[in-house]
Amino acid sequence: MRTGVIKRTALPSPVLLLIGIVYFALMVAIYSGRVGTKRETRPQETSEPSDPSVFQWKRPSSDYQMPANSTEDTETPELVRLEGWPTEFPADLDTYRAGVLNSTLLSGAAKHRMEIAPWVWHHRGLADVLEQKSLDPNTSIDALEEMAQKGIVPYRGTRARAAFVVLIRNRELNDFLRTMRQLEDRFNRRYHYPYVFLNDEPFTTEFMHMVAQSTVSNVTFGLVPTDHWSMPEWIDPQKALEAREQMRDVIYGTSLSYRHMCRFNSGFFYHHPLLADVEFYWRVEPNVDFYCDIPYDPFVFMRDNNKLYSFVIALRELEATIPTLWDHTLEFMRAENISSDLMPFFVSRSGEYNLCHFWSNFEIASLAWLRSAEYQRYFDYLDRLGGFFMERWGDAPVHSLAAGMFLKREQVHFFNDIGYRHEEFTHCPSSLAACQCPKNVETFDDSRGSCLPRWLGYEPFVWTPNDTVEAQRLAREERLRASKQPMLVNERRRWYDFFGRF
Ligand SMILES: *[C@@H]1O[C@H](CO)[C@@H](O)[C@H](O)[C@H]1NC(C)=O
Ligand SMILES: *[C@@H]1O[C@H](CO)[C@@H](O)[C@H](O)[C@H]1NC(C)=O
Ligand SMILES: *[C@@H]1O[C@H](CO)[C@@H](O)[C@H](O)[C@H]1NC(C)=O
Ligand SMILES: *[C@@H]1O[C@H](CO)[C@@H](O)[C@H](O)[C@H]1NC(C)=O
Ligand SMILES: *[C@@H]1O[C@H](CO)[C@@H](O)[C@H](O)[C@H]1NC(C)=O
Ligand SMILES: *[C@@H]1O[C@H](CO)[C@@H](O)[C@H](O)[C@H]1NC(C)=O
Repeated sequence: MRTGVIKRTALPSPVLLLIGIVYFALMVAIYSGRVGTKRETRPQETSEPSDPSVFQWKRPSSDYQMPANSTEDTETPELVRLEGWPTEFPADLDTYRAGVLNSTLLSGAAKHRMEIAPWVWHHRGLADVLEQKSLDPNTSIDALEEMAQKGIVPYRGTRARAAFVVLIRNRELNDFLRTMRQLEDRFNRRYHYPYVFLNDEPFTTEFMHMVAQSTVSNVTFGLVPTDHWSMPEWIDPQKALEAREQMRDVIYGTSLSYRHMCRFNSGFFYHHPLLADVEFYWRVEPNVDFYCDIPYDPFVFMRDNNKLYSFVIALRELEATIPTLWDHTLEFMRAENISSDLMPFFVSRSGEYNLCHFWSNFEIASLAWLRSAEYQRYFDYLDRLGGFFMERWGDAPVHSLAAGMFLKREQVHFFNDIGYRHEEFTHCPSSLAACQCPKNVETFDDSRGSCLPRWLGYEPFVWTPNDTVEAQRLAREERLRASKQPMLVNERRRWYDFFGRF
């Protein structure tokens, strides 16, 4: 699981340099088609999706074009202000923003809205027009056929109040366009769900134009409010820096922005003003793959089946990133007198956190749940403890342990039929005709570190407040044992004792 631990090497020797040049030349030759590598083509699927009554559509062929013209000669997409948002701003936006941040008249969501308003842009996609046209009985058969050929089968059902949410940087544009193309092909060109893009810096015009051209859906671009992406005043920046220095050998161990991201995804994104009307969200990250056609609406599935959280990959967390998260969570469970039929999924026989978590880079979840008072209390408690900065708590274990405490087993759904890859972890059910799984890639489902077998075999039973007491006793014993070993864990634990309990 530990990827990308890049070692600094000395400057390349002439031999390495030569190899590099030859390799580069070869790649150029291959990509410009001069070397006769035959591009592998996937076998053309002939079977139709299992339930043809849902809608009629054609599998995208290799020369399939995006519905909106994505070539250079298209008109520039029009970016407009969102209805109900401020439209006039002073020329000096930095001063404007500082002024809003400094304001004592504004607070909470209203302040966030004012702060980010100058950077919020919206593009209205063609989706509404196309849907109208297809419903209009006067639309000719030819026009309908043309739409079908473009891959747009306009949606005739009732959408959920849902959106894709993409936290992304400008430099990740190309990685995202590739992902977006798959998501559109596999699912959204038929459903037209809107996208909301968030960034800790303003989006470039190029970014907004390219994205808007790649879908007929609405797209909205926003900014993360400053206080969702900064250290709270109870964190000592110097201590946080030292904590990061100590985590050199942990992936993203020294990164501050990674920590901001984890904290944002744990406790803030669902309060973003652009998501105020959104009930279900689907998190999409750049550079992920979607391998299966999704011939139904997962949002509606979630809504109609009373699901509040979902995943495709479940795996074990790196313990070094969350040395005290379990202890703190137990303390919270004790104070809140938690009973749950999902928590035992996360606990090993010896009463410790088994490190299993749903991998949140794919996540379809209810924002109403994340906005609930109990979830918010858990996040605020964790945030006060400072572990997002003093350790490297990820939003995935935080979401998962929260699900363990607050959700029932049957409110969490495993989307087996959504083939997905993030980094080197892939879930792809090759037995499904709707999936085109890459041949050279193993599905992670049964691998070491995967928690899917545990999930599939999990028989819910109820965790009671007494179990919490017992687990805390075990954790204390474990702490005593561990205190004999000079480890990072103990460094962190000393810090925990310093901060005390809530
Ligand atoms: C796409 O562009 C072509 C010419 O480049 C034009 O004929 C066609 O109408 C355009 N389609 C859309 C949907 O704008
Ligand atoms: C912020 O407010 C304080 C007092 O209200 C004022 O002295 C200061 O100049 C303000 N700063 C900015 C950037 O507006
Ligand atoms: C698209 O955005 C417009 C506002 O620009 C809104 O009226 C419309 O309902 C949205 N359509 C969809 C399908 O989200
Ligand atoms: C369809 O066409 C007929 C005849 O031209 C017209 O009377 C009717 O209003 C049209 N229907 C719609 C929905 O535009
Ligand atoms: C804790 O929860 C149990 C049931 O799970 C209940 O019987 C008990 O009264 C609760 N205690 C407090 C202090 O809320
Ligand atoms: C929980 O522990 C208390 C005190 O030790 C005990 O009285 C009670 O019966 C236990 N409850 C359950 C459900 O085991």
